Amino acid sequence: MDEARNEMRKEDLIFGLDIGASKINLFVGMVDGASVRVLECGDFPLTNADEFDHVVETLKNAAQSIESTVGVDVHDVYVGIAGKHVSSFNYRGLITLPTGEVRSQDIETVKDQASTIPESAGQIIHVFPGEYTLDDQPGIRNPKGLNGRRLGVEVQVVTSRPNAIQNLDKCVKSAGLHTVEFVLEPLAAAYAVLTEDEKELGVALIDIGAGSADVAVFVGESVRYTVSLDLAGNSITSDISKCLQVPISLSKAEEIKKKYGTCKINNLIEDETFPVPGVGDRGDVQCSRKLLARVITARVAEIFKMLSDDLQKHKIDGLINGGIVLTGGCCALEGIDEIAEKVFHKPVRIGLPKFFSGIQEAFRKPSYATGIGLLHYAARKQRENRRNETGKQITVSVKKGLQWIKDLVQTYF
Ligand SMILES: Nc1ncnc2c1ncn2[C@@H]1O[C@H](COP(=O)(O)OP(=O)(O)OP(=O)(O)O)[C@@H](O)[C@H]1O
Ligand SMILES: [Mg+2]
Repeated sequence: MDEARNEMRKEDLIFGLDIGASKINLFVGMVDGASVRVLECGDFPLTNADEFDHVVETLKNAAQSIESTVGVDVHDVYVGIAGKHVSSFNYRGLITLPTGEVRSQDIETVKDQASTIPESAGQIIHVFPGEYTLDDQPGIRNPKGLNGRRLGVEVQVVTSRPNAIQNLDKCVKSAGLHTVEFVLEPLAAAYAVLTEDEKELGVALIDIGAGSADVAVFVGESVRYTVSLDLAGNSITSDISKCLQVPISLSKAEEIKKKYGTCKINNLIEDETFPVPGVGDRGDVQCSRKLLARVITARVAEIFKMLSDDLQKHKIDGLINGGIVLTGGCCALEGIDEIAEKVFHKPVRIGLPKFFSGIQEAFRKPSYATGIGLLHYAARKQRENRRNETGKQITVSVKKGLQWIKDLVQTYF
């Protein structure tokens, strides 16, 4: 009995793994009806995200900390993926409808046709169908049951360079875990922070982490565009290390950014300063907080400008009527949303993971959006799998029922 209960609990557990450029977040949660219960997070800094052994060791530590604090085995994990090696492409599919009516299998066929991509495009992570066309009628969201001769669809295919996926998978395996699925990080973050009306209107989620700024544009449930820029928090830190009155190490610049950094230049008093240790054994040097804020703001504005230009270039800008939502650790910079508003000319808000059962206040941070979103994604997949299982069971019992009636008929009539 106890064993059965343990088994049941194991099946209910879900794990989300976010390996970022600055940290590893391993979240454990439970599917709780329609919501997700966050149980714990192993949150470990990465001092060198490019060093394979260091990442594996840190991941092992995160898994061990979960195992000892929550008392569960970490097993199948949903793993976030983002960065320059991820690309997205638009492809079209068009089929002739054999019966003159759109059936479920026709929708699958046209999606399959659209997502048959050349090997050079990379390994597929997600396929997001956009709107359908039926004969000459565009803009159909759900064509099932409609009559027509030709069904078309435009899909957004998200791919990654195969070696990047293999290396991420190898890292997860080397830490003794198993990858269930790779999930585009801004897609995961969207599950944690976006509202239904934002998605309905069209919204861009921008995750500004340490190594990259990753964007996903949603219209309804469909991802219409993704892009990644390898400029983010680390670039801000690097600017600070070079541009203050005295040059400082990256680790000191990181510390200063977190302690004194802001994008609200106008809130600062003209001669406000903070101490920076001088080079060698020279004493502290007083540096201007306004200068620090200018250095940070210049880089933040540049990142947003590059993203805004890219969205305009790809004609995505016009789809974003529900505004922009920012996630990632750089959201801790006060006033970053106001800079984004000025650059994008759209309403901008900071995305905190939505309040759902079990979430502790400490997890309501924009930097946890990806990890918590991975749990939402995992819960959704688990519910789908269970529905499919239940569907199969019902089919089996209906078949058994039919057999029983046949037997009855043969016995008595
Ligand atoms: N208080 C703060 N002020 C300014 N920046 C901060 C603050 N706290 C964190 N950051 C910055 O946020 C970044 C880390 O964010 P996050 O945890 O989202 O990144 P990551 O997931 O490790 O990286 P990536 O998503 O690029 O792989 C770092 O550059 C860090 O300096
Ligand atoms: Mg991240």
